[in-house]
Amino acid sequence: MSSWLEGRVVARRGWTETLVSLTVDAPALTFQAGQFARLALPAPAGSPEPMVGRPYSFVNPPEAPQHEFLFVVVPGGPLSPRLAALDAGDAIWLGPRANGFFCVSEVPEAGTLWCLSTGTGLGPFLSILRTADPWSRFGRVVLVHAVRVAAELVYRDAIDGVLRDRAGAFTYVPVVSRETHAGALSGRIPALIADGRLEARAGAALNAADAHAMLCGNPAMVDDVQAVLATRGMRRHRRREPGHITVETYW
Ligand SMILES: Cc1cc2nc3c(=O)[nH]c(=O)nc-3n(C[C@H](O)[C@H](O)[C@H](O)COP(=O)(O)OP(=O)(O)OC[C@H]3O[C@@H](n4cnc5c(N)ncnc54)[C@H](O)[C@@H]3O)c2cc1C
Ligand SMILES: NC(=O)c1ccc[n+]([C@@H]2O[C@H](COP(=O)([O-])OP(=O)(O)OC[C@H]3O[C@@H](n4cnc5c(N)ncnc54)[C@H](OP(=O)(O)O)[C@@H]3O)[C@@H](O)[C@H]2O)c1
Repeated sequence: MSSWLEGRVVARRGWTETLVSLTVDAPALTFQAGQFARLALPAPAGSPEPMVGRPYSFVNPPEAPQHEFLFVVVPGGPLSPRLAALDAGDAIWLGPRANGFFCVSEVPEAGTLWCLSTGTGLGPFLSILRTADPWSRFGRVVLVHAVRVAAELVYRDAIDGVLRDRAGAFTYVPVVSRETHAGALSGRIPALIADGRLEARAGAALNAADAHAMLCGNPAMVDDVQAVLATRGMRRHRRREPGHITVETYW
């Protein structure tokens, strides 16, 4: 376990039966908003590796005294059900370094930054939006969170805080796919882009001239959104070949 930092769970929040946040004390770990840590627990006896580790995006902004992670329980998964069973006081291990390039510093200038997420893909945006960077780099920021049911529209307090702090520059658009919910759009992000409802709701354009899109969550959503945006001339951003789309897939 020598390459792992031992941290401690200081709080557990169960949003639903399968959606959980853990607050973790691990002072030695620093990161940029949008990056991920590796969380780990000792592997079961007889396993080839001593630890079972997986990547998880930081939800907290970098200067927060404790780290926070949001995750869904994948039934039968090697790690997520065990993480969900942890509670305050339990030990948890973290990789010694944060990783990832899903950061605003990697994104070129644009009029509007679109933050498009499904499920737990909301996490890195909560970190990013609570730093100063996006507000000095983009005129508008739109956060879209798409979930199956309204109970999964989590972190309303944090989002309301950004709405208060960044009034006029920030728009939050909840999307619910498997029930109707007042105030939320119905359906999936790619269809809502294609038929213009997402832009109409946000009051901002999602096109190559004015926007950059950061996509995080379900890889099928990431693929389908890229296909729709390609019809608008938007392509993946790379350091050597600037574009309009930055992605993080969770599996
Ligand atoms: C860069 C990166 C960042 C990540 N950040 C997060 C995060 O912040 N929160 C989080 O919950 N997960 C995150 N993940 C996924 C996470 O690392 C684990 O894969 C997940 O918690 C399941 O772990 P497991 O060992 O139980 O099952 P695994 O064997 O790792 O996964 C089994 C299957 O579960 C499904 N799955 C995995 N993750 C998710 C998910 N988040 N939502 C829906 N279905 C999923 C996929 O079908 C996957 O093949 C991230 C992954 C990557 C690559
Ligand atoms: N959420 C739950 O109720 C629940 C319960 C038990 C277990 N789980 C476990 O958690 C895992 C993840 O669940 P999750 O709900 O967090 O994530 P998810 O399955 O990725 O769903 C989140 C949102 O993404 C949408 N989506 C799926 N594919 C898409 C695509 N190709 N394009 C655009 N949008 C797309 C979903 O719409 P659709 O609804 O149309 O698919 C939903 O609105 C499941 O695989 C399961 O193992 C979840």
